[in-house]
Amino acid sequence: MATHAPSRTIERIVRGVATSDGAGVKLTRVLTQDLQRRLDPFLMLDAFGSDKPDEYIAGFPDHPHRGFETVTYMLEGQLRHRDNHGGEGVLAPGGVQWMTAGRGIVHSEFPEQDHGMMAGFQLWLNLPAKDKMCDPGYRDLPAATIPVVTTPSGVSVKVIAGAAQGAAGAMTRENTEPIYLDIHLPGGVDFEQELPPGHNAFIYVYEGAVTVGDPAGSGNYAPRPVQKSEMGVLANTKDAAGVVIGSTGPARLLLIAGKPLREPIAQYGPFVMNTNEELRQAVADYQAGKF
Ligand code: CO
Repeated sequence: MATHAPSRTIERIVRGVATSDGAGVKLTRVLTQDLQRRLDPFLMLDAFGSDKPDEYIAGFPDHPHRGFETVTYMLEGQLRHRDNHGGEGVLAPGGVQWMTAGRGIVHSEFPEQDHGMMAGFQLWLNLPAKDKMCDPGYRDLPAATIPVVTTPSGVSVKVIAGAAQGAAGAMTRENTEPIYLDIHLPGGVDFEQELPPGHNAFIYVYEGAVTVGDPAGSGNYAPRPVQKSEMGVLANTKDAAGVVIGSTGPARLLLIAGKPLREPIAQYGPFVMNTNEELRQAVADYQAGKF
């Protein structure tokens, strides 16, 4: 019997829910509200990808946020961001925008194109109670500023946050210690990534397919497949140092992990606080123009 599990395993496969947001942008909600507790500190992950302007052109007109951070990662296309604190920038392919809503921000995101492909992800990362009312702000991280490491077996790892393969990522966050990697696997390799045992973690495959688990594992530890457009929730496998991801053909995926806050989560649309009273206050403050 194994005394040490080399890799976390897949606890659950989740298929996203097709929906639309903003002024009618089509997207897939991968991490839905019912997974917020299990995947604490992450609150939401949306995947968008379309070459039909009708599905993205209306964009996201002015809307508020309070109490958490939004992390937008563009694969293709360009989005212009504007907020009521003087922030403005264009998100370009391969770039990330890390926005801290804190006590309140009102922003818009509009396509900077009228045709072609628009694809990427938006992740919501919770803030601890003590920081929910912090000053809002945002950082643009252009593609050139985000480290990319290539392993000897040809796996390319873009380190958006946290650390991987000895490289420090573009962002670090003190309370949730997020790891956010975009991993490109050639066919026929195994890739190993360390993960702190207490971190909640998941993968989202957006091209090809992968397997997750110890290649030598059997029974409950046997590698399990995760297909394109599926999220694999990684078990908090006791004693596992990390996760082993394998491929037969070329594949692309996000690997996201973070330290849970273990605080109450109260959400009303774009406001995520700890109590309903704080949500009522958020609505009142927004309506009073205090954002
Ligand atoms: Co927003």
